[in-house]
Amino acid sequence: MTIRVMALTESEALEHASRLFVRLNAVRPNTQTLNAMKTHILNNRADLAAFLAMDESRLNFYKVVLPDLFSTWKAPEGESSTTLDDFIATVVGLVINNQRFDEIVYGDVIYAARPSLTEFNLDLMPGAGESIQSVWYNGNSFIRARPIDFNNNSYPVPPPGRVRPILTSTMVNQNPNIRISWNDNAHYEDLAKNIPDWPLQIVRYSQIQVTGMTQFPGNATDGIYRLTPSTVGGALTLRSMGLGYFYQGSNRRPIKFFAQHLWGTTIEALNDPTRPDNFVRTDVDRNPGGNPATYESCRGCHAGMDALINVFAPFDFSNSPTSYNVGFIGNYGTKIYRQFRTFPDGFLISQSNYTTWNNPWADGQNASLGWRIPPGLSSVRTGTGVNSLMRVIAATEAFSNNLARISFEQVCGRNPSVQELPGVHAMARQFESGFPSYTALSASGPYNLRALIARMTPFCFGENF
Ligand code: HEC
Repeated sequence: MTIRVMALTESEALEHASRLFVRLNAVRPNTQTLNAMKTHILNNRADLAAFLAMDESRLNFYKVVLPDLFSTWKAPEGESSTTLDDFIATVVGLVINNQRFDEIVYGDVIYAARPSLTEFNLDLMPGAGESIQSVWYNGNSFIRARPIDFNNNSYPVPPPGRVRPILTSTMVNQNPNIRISWNDNAHYEDLAKNIPDWPLQIVRYSQIQVTGMTQFPGNATDGIYRLTPSTVGGALTLRSMGLGYFYQGSNRRPIKFFAQHLWGTTIEALNDPTRPDNFVRTDVDRNPGGNPATYESCRGCHAGMDALINVFAPFDFSNSPTSYNVGFIGNYGTKIYRQFRTFPDGFLISQSNYTTWNNPWADGQNASLGWRIPPGLSSVRTGTGVNSLMRVIAATEAFSNNLARISFEQVCGRNPSVQELPGVHAMARQFESGFPSYTALSASGPYNLRALIARMTPFCFGENF
């Protein structure tokens, strides 16, 4: 494969190499890397120069640039916090390990420290008045870390080179069945502080296995109420996203996640009053301010939004770890039923409908999001469970197009022009199927984000770089 760019002089190639490195690492390159990148650029392989930059041993691409690029996803209004947490670790883990990046939307995946880093001060039996506070899932069984004094709520401080376990738990009435809850970021704080090469020290786990996200009622044979394959939903069911999307409110906020962060648009732009409004909930006034015409605008958002994200109704973040509480459904005192008497003929979430999502936006103007049926599913218009909805969202062309745009902006330091967009979108299609020529770099699989970033270089090398 040859990537054609304007022929560059040696000093221009050096300058391009330097700028590309800084965009992908936020620090200056060393001479050796710079020269190797320059050689690739002079050979018309700026993409290989980008790979060299991403893989540089200081790991700044993974520790600084990627967290910065995706940190806005944690908040509905796009405030950013690059603090290392389960979301940032999972983004970085998927990318550095050449996993499919669309899993960030639907996967049962979480990256956390390899188990050996959490082994310290193990003390299997709590003393009188103590309760087990730290538990780590090591792949097939739970290791209990040092118990702490229940009353002073302190954690054992990990020795250098070690991190506190990801899970915390409370032993209820000395019941050996531990109820896992997960309500802090201690594991990831330790990782950032104690493990300088943390991107290389995190490994993939199942969210269902290691997070304390609780589901009520659940299958608690081992004392743990777990999410299930149908309720797990990629980033949205990671702890650090709960505060942004499931704290108070009516659980409609995930639509902002889809619109802004996954599709690179806004809810306002998706407003389509031509959609049937049979799923608009009972809390939405059909005669707002005494003017039924105003409802047309309300309907434009709520007809699609309420139908799609009905399946999120049981999620709640009121007490830190997110819970999936089926007890919400039909309990009119809970947050999802606030103002539910406003329009009694509207759609009321109930036991018989809360696991089904519908997608009025598959048709009409929002068909332009490019809906496609993901493997294993049979429709983009309706389905069961949180997970199938998230798979359908991830399979849209808009999602890959948005990742291509984000990658373009990082590599080129500017927005793609109107003339460049079709080429950027064509690259998004290749990203979906994979770039076979990157087999030797382990980056040839579908949805490989390193490959997508590398393939943005030809768009802006030359005089516009
Ligand atoms: C641009 C899209 C959009 C339009 C237009 C819109 N809404 Fe909403 N609405 C939302 C979103 C998003 C939320 C969830 C907000 C959150 O939780 O952060 C929401 C939440 C609500 C809620 C629940 C509030 C709560 O948390 O208790 C009600 C009630 C509501 N909208 C009514 C209306 C009415 C009435 C109109 C028309 C006057 C309207 N909406 C127009 C997007 C829209």
